[in-house]
Amino acid sequence: MAARPKITVVGAGNVGASVAQYSVEKELGDVVLVDVIEGVPQGKALDLAQAGPIHGYDSRLAGSNGYDETGDSDIVVITAGLARKPGMTRDDLLFKNAEIVGSVVQEVVRRSPDAILVLVTNPLDAMVQLAWKKSGFPTRRVVGMAGVLDSARFRTFIARELDVSVENVTAFVLGGHGDSMVPLPRYSTVAGIPITELLSKDKIEALVTRTANGGAEIVNFLKTGSAYYAPAASTVEMVEAILRDKKKILPCAAYLDGQYGVKGLYVGVPAKLGRGGVEQVIEIRLTREEQAAFDKSAAAVRELVDKLKL
Ligand SMILES: NC(=O)c1ccc[n+]([C@@H]2O[C@H](COP(=O)([O-])OP(=O)(O)OC[C@H]3O[C@@H](n4cnc5c(N)ncnc54)[C@H](O)[C@@H]3O)[C@@H](O)[C@H]2O)c1
Repeated sequence: MAARPKITVVGAGNVGASVAQYSVEKELGDVVLVDVIEGVPQGKALDLAQAGPIHGYDSRLAGSNGYDETGDSDIVVITAGLARKPGMTRDDLLFKNAEIVGSVVQEVVRRSPDAILVLVTNPLDAMVQLAWKKSGFPTRRVVGMAGVLDSARFRTFIARELDVSVENVTAFVLGGHGDSMVPLPRYSTVAGIPITELLSKDKIEALVTRTANGGAEIVNFLKTGSAYYAPAASTVEMVEAILRDKKKILPCAAYLDGQYGVKGLYVGVPAKLGRGGVEQVIEIRLTREEQAAFDKSAAAVRELVDKLKL
């Protein structure tokens, strides 16, 4: 392994460029940015490198329209893909992004057979399943980012509601990304106190709904794109947990082999991330209601995955 870990970020758009930025600001490793648009990854990499003297990082940055520079990466973050355009159905997006992610994975794994893949492209849970299949990697070396973002959004809203530090707030979410996510209020806490002790049922319900629609709320403001600061920060928290072998428990799209009653599918669950990737899926006992919500979420993921005929 090189002196510094090597991080490849595929897709140098909004999320990818911010992942590169936060990664070098934390000096997690050297970064290679890849994109199909000529000049963009090169330009962003050079620009970010020139922020190094001010921020004080020595991480090297490179941009490319190909994959030769990505060889022997320790971790590959995949953000390449399209956002939904007017007139495009969710299924159109599913098939288009499946094509993109499938080809990216093929290019990447050939040159970095020992890497850990972190998927970001939507529809997230289906893209992780696809990447795992195409890579031929063990399940622990393929993981998806969604739960960290969903729980960060929930934490933000809880902290604002109670006027406390976001650092005091932890949140527990399960299930697929976005509208099918399953928050668990009894395991979401403020300084260790479950929020069910601090907020009314209606208030919690309102915050949960806002969280589940968190992505759409931002798209409605931005109009021409979707959220990227918090998604990138969430991805980098996972990258850091892996590269620094922190054994950090984070909600991720991880492969279930019977846990939570689901077999053979990537769904959002708490997982321990370390140098080995997903080192453990943490299983907790759910109430009947929570299990039903989780089952519904997993069924929605399964439906998308089935369409891909993997
Ligand atoms: N999982 C999550 O929680 C989450 C959160 C935010 C965004 N996303 C998803 O992440 C993806 C990226 O979002 P964004 O805001 O950065 O979009 P963006 O349009 O700003 O960037 C996407 C980039 O991918 C590039 N690209 C397209 N095809 C490619 C290919 N074959 N190889 C390499 N690069 C390619 C594009 O040129 C573009 O620069 C989207 O699918 C979005 O829905 C997921």
